[in-house]
Order: sequence, then structure tokens, then C-alpha cells
Amino acid sequence: MKALILSGGKGTRLRPLTYTGAKQLVPVANKPILWYGIEEIVASGITDIGIIISPETGKEVQAKTGSGEQFGAKITYILQEKPAGLAHAVQVALPFLENSPFLMYLGDNLIQQGDLSYFLKKFTNQQQDALILLRPVPNPSAFGVAKVDETGRVLELIEKPQVPPSNLALVGVYFFSHVIHDAITCIKPSARGELEITDAIQNLIDNQKQVVACQLEGWWLDTGKKDDLLEANRLILDTYLKTSILGEVDAQSHIIGRVKIGSQSQVINCTIRGPVIIGNNCHLEHCFIGPYSSIADNATVIDTDLEHSVLLEGAKIIGIHQRIIDSVIGQRAQLIVAPRRPKALRFLIGDDCQIELT
Ligand code: G1P
Repeated sequence: MKALILSGGKGTRLRPLTYTGAKQLVPVANKPILWYGIEEIVASGITDIGIIISPETGKEVQAKTGSGEQFGAKITYILQEKPAGLAHAVQVALPFLENSPFLMYLGDNLIQQGDLSYFLKKFTNQQQDALILLRPVPNPSAFGVAKVDETGRVLELIEKPQVPPSNLALVGVYFFSHVIHDAITCIKPSARGELEITDAIQNLIDNQKQVVACQLEGWWLDTGKKDDLLEANRLILDTYLKTSILGEVDAQSHIIGRVKIGSQSQVINCTIRGPVIIGNNCHLEHCFIGPYSSIADNATVIDTDLEHSVLLEGAKIIGIHQRIIDSVIGQRAQLIVAPRRPKALRFLIGDDCQIELT
């Protein structure tokens, strides 16, 4: 059994963060989203992993993630020259996959720990051609959607339907036998010009292959947008964060609940109410850091109240005397109160940024 992780794509829904990096490397609780997938796959027992990369962000994904040694896996990077669809990615990966059955995992998806092993066992024991996972969602038009009968058998799969036949979305985790390669050769590009994996699975159904759909009970997040990213951050901190204080915390500070503080970080006169993760070499002074916040390495936060927010590496927030909530602040971005007159707001805001003032 092999695994194929898709880590290409343009990440348009996460702009501006994805102008300067791959969406799969955006951190959740200070760890790239992609790494959660790798760790889950390795935990399920699969160590031969191919990662599909794009010309735009492939080098960065490869440099950061490496050979796989740190995960106990062997990673092969596979370049997909153009974003021509998920089924196209499988085609490109054929020399790596050969005839092996495989797990396909969309690199910006997060699922609850342990679920992968459960479904992998189910797939291998029953020798199916495809096992797909479904999950009810409030906005099915944004996904591949399944029409199922009363027994749960899949009748039809439709990619991004305008009028969805159900609220059951295709989760970005699939198990396939080698027959999927033949199905892919039979499909045509969709309206968005891509070879859709959804259409290839439909082709399997049309040809009476063994396609089984299971409902995913645990949580699933497609981290494509800001609010999904914050929700993923909340869930991961809520579920997995353990207290560990390596940095320096002065006597005036109050640390409440589960808080992780990395080495060489300084916390001066702050109240931190967990779950909160703070990376290495951060400087926090006169702050309140509220629950569900992740602050990456080398960040500075002074005279600020922050809650339910994600700060990326090197971000700086100084002297904002209003509480900041539900925010994602990019790498090296600065949010500061300038001491000079006239008292005014001054911005240098990149493309696609979103600023809400009261
Ligand atoms: C892709 C699939 C879709 C699936 C979704 C899950 O959509 O095409 O069927 O429901 O991933 O994340 P995309 O992210 O390419 O819009």
C-alpha cells in the first residue's frame, strides 16, 4: 500500500497568505497542515509516500518536508506541471504508484486522528476498488457531492453541483485499487477544465466496480479559507496541546490552562489563557493571549490583547489597544501603533488582504 498526497494547487481562497507560500505549509498550531496528513498516514502503517508538487511551490514544500526521515517515511516528490485536476495528478503519479493500491490524501485536509487507520483496514480487508468518505456539510455546492440510496449505496457523484442532491460531501481522502487508472483514461475535463477524481470514481460506479462509501464520524476540515484555518487551529489546540514551558516566564505573568511556550521565548507581565501555543524566540510583553491562539517562531506581541488568532513567523503586533480576535496575521506582517502625529491610520496593505476596523 502506498500513499499519494496532493500538495499542488494555487490556494486562491487563502490569499494573501498563499502569494508567498504553499497553502499546505500554512501552519495550524505552529505545524504545517501537510505534516498532519503525513503523520496520520505513517501512523496508519503506510511509509511509501508520494507528494504531488507544483512548479510554483514545490521547492518550498520539498525543502521544508525533506526526505521523510523525520516522519519515519520515504517521500518521493512528483511534479505536476499544471493544475489540471486531481485525476490528472494520479496520472502523473503512475510511475510511482505502479500497480499498488493507494490512499490519496488532499494535503490541505485535516481529519481526526485514528480515522485513517480504521478506514484503511476496512479497505484492505474487503478488497474494494474504491473506498470514499462522506461527511454532511452545510454548503455541499463547494464540494464533490454524493447521491446515496437508503442503504448508503452511492448512486451518483457530482463535482460542485449547483443543485446538490444531498448534503454529503466527498472528503479529500480516498482509497483506490489500480483500476482507478483505467477509469481516469476514460474521463474528459470538467467545466473548470480539470480531470476530476469525482468523475473517475463515477466511471467506476458506472462499470459496476466495488465502490464503497463510508460516513466519516470524526471531524474533517478542508483548510482552504481563513475561517476553516482558525477552526482547524481551535480543534488541534483543543484536542492535542500539552503544557510545556521552555521559554522564560517572569513572576508577573499568569499562565492558565494548557500553554506551550518554545525555547528562547520571553513572556513578561502577560496573562496567557490556554490552549495557546507560542513558538521559539518570541517576545511577549504586557499582553493578554486568549484561548485558541497560535503564535509562530520569532513573533513579537507587545501591549496587545489577542484571542482565537494565528500569527505566522516573525509577525509583530505592538500597542493595539483593542482586542484582536478571529485573525490570521501573515509572516513578518506588522500591526503597530506609531507614536507620531498626526494621529491617523497608516497602511501598507498587500493584495487581497482583509482589514476590519471598528
Ligand atoms: C476537491 C474535490 C472535491 C472534494 C474536496 C474536498 O475539491 O474535487 O470533490 O469534495 O476536494 O476537500 P477542490 O478542493 O479541488 O475544490
